Amino acid sequence: MTSNAVPRVSVIVVAAGSGTRLGAEVPKAFVALGGSTLLERSLHAVAGMRERAQLIVVAPEPLVSEATALASAAFGGGATVVPGGETRQQSVARGLAAVADSVEVVLVHDAARALTPSALFDAVVDEVDARGHGVIPGLAVSDTIKRVGAAGDIHETVDRSVLSAVQTPQGFPRTDLVAAYAAATSEETDDAGLVTALGLDVSVIPGHELAFKVTTPADLRRAELVLLDESGTNDAPLPRIGIGTDTHGFDPSTELWLAGLHWPEEVGLAGHSDGDAVAHAITDALLSACGLGDIGSVFGTSDPRFVGAHGEVFLTETRRRVEEAGFRIGNVSVQIVGNRPRFSPRRAEAEVLLTSILGAPVSLTATTTDGLGFTGRGEGIAAVATALVFHSPSY
Ligand code: CTP
Ligand code: MG
Repeated sequence: MTSNAVPRVSVIVVAAGSGTRLGAEVPKAFVALGGSTLLERSLHAVAGMRERAQLIVVAPEPLVSEATALASAAFGGGATVVPGGETRQQSVARGLAAVADSVEVVLVHDAARALTPSALFDAVVDEVDARGHGVIPGLAVSDTIKRVGAAGDIHETVDRSVLSAVQTPQGFPRTDLVAAYAAATSEETDDAGLVTALGLDVSVIPGHELAFKVTTPADLRRAELVLLDESGTNDAPLPRIGIGTDTHGFDPSTELWLAGLHWPEEVGLAGHSDGDAVAHAITDALLSACGLGDIGSVFGTSDPRFVGAHGEVFLTETRRRVEEAGFRIGNVSVQIVGNRPRFSPRRAEAEVLLTSILGAPVSLTATTTDGLGFTGRGEGIAAVATALVFHSPSY
């Protein structure tokens, strides 16, 4: 997992359209779909990418602060939000201007494709890396397509075997996309249109059924039905929750690692690994939610490979097992119980780190126990975690 400090990949989520064809009271990206807005769902997909990307959200000018709040909750902070333009192309151009210096690959994604799986983003990044040019997802066209005149007169049947209905995220080497936007003379409906107009290569890779765009009320209904299937309101399995707790005593001879962070000024915690009670509680909560055992049975309590291991090791492997078992993480919530360290100054940093490791929002709270018990006496730290997991859609 790469850190967000020097991102190599940037994802621009364009959400500044008004959604005329959907006809809702709010701009399309802010329309609710199963309790979350289309934008939030798209941001969760970006948060679930294997490689932590720079996130740039392009929002309608009046909703920039609302988009900022959604982005920080869904992505764990660190997102850039810029106001959009008159057309999609202008909105992408504004997002492109905010790409960090370190970025080599830029993905552009329609917020309206709210159910796009994180794996499609990963596949686009992988293919841009492998091919060194632009890559866009597309699906075969199933309808018979006619080329027609203004009066409805048919000119020809188009050979559909050579057609692809393209989706987003569309990914490009940064230099290609920047050059294409700098040279743009036409108004295109996708980014690949500008890049190919400049004579640069772009390939189509297999898209995903769930990357469809919510354009009309019927599309929104389709998306709602997909979620109903996932959430179990039909006959599909219910989401599952899990709980995990962990306790470690202070050990003045060690350094403190907590919530994946190093705390240089603080007394450490005793334990076989680094004693990171937060990471261990999350691990148990996730394993338990999926019925995969617990940290002891999965990682062993004396395995020499895990001596001094940091939380990231456990969490990365746990996420892999969760996904391998056919689940995806909904969210994780953790409470730290103890007198020290004072957690709030580093809460955001820890949330960003853990969210990026798990690919799902992690929220952290901390409390003391009014001087009572071992935590109140300052003997150690406890952490309690709950996790929600969903069955991954099977298509
Ligand atoms: N978009 C944008 N800025 C614009 C227009 C569109 O950021 N000026 C974004 C939309 O928010 C959407 C994506 O581009 O996520 C694809 O556009 P589309 O589906 O056409 O959305 P809208 O333009 O909002 O819808 P409509 O065309 O029905 O008004
Ligand atoms: Mg539009």
